[in-house]
Amino acid sequence: MKLRVINGPNLNMLGIREPAVYGHETYADLVAFVRESAAALGIEAECLQSNHEGEIVTWIQECFGHCDGIVINPAAYTHTSVAILDALKAVALPAIEVHLSDVQSREAFRHVSYAALACREVIAGHGFLGYRMAMEALTHMDCGRQD
Ligand code: DQA
Repeated sequence: MKLRVINGPNLNMLGIREPAVYGHETYADLVAFVRESAAALGIEAECLQSNHEGEIVTWIQECFGHCDGIVINPAAYTHTSVAILDALKAVALPAIEVHLSDVQSREAFRHVSYAALACREVIAGHGFLGYRMAMEALTHMDCGRQD
């Protein structure tokens, strides 16, 4: 099984940005955590990060025909991006949205997620562990397009 783990804007600033919200671990730590989680689950996972919406759309599109599922933390684009929602709908692969923080207990604008409309689940507020939970959940889901 091959997953793509896609991270949105400012997640490259983990460890520096708002440590009270996101903790002290860095993006490199997250990549290592995803790699270890994939090894433990016996799957392949490619971990990517971009600050650009269009690049994230392209990475989702590239999953079509190449990946079995998507873990996505669209970060701030969660709350604004119809383009990311449409890309997830287009490839129609099993997808799970992850947030490090508990978005539902934060500002009202973070309660809205466009991407979630094309995701099987949203896992929020578990820090890095949420990524492993999402990867494991995808291993139990049917692979392939969900038409
Ligand atoms: C986030 C939550 C978003 O609201 C925020 O814009 C982020 C990170 C999280 O992982 O908790 O950048 O996706």
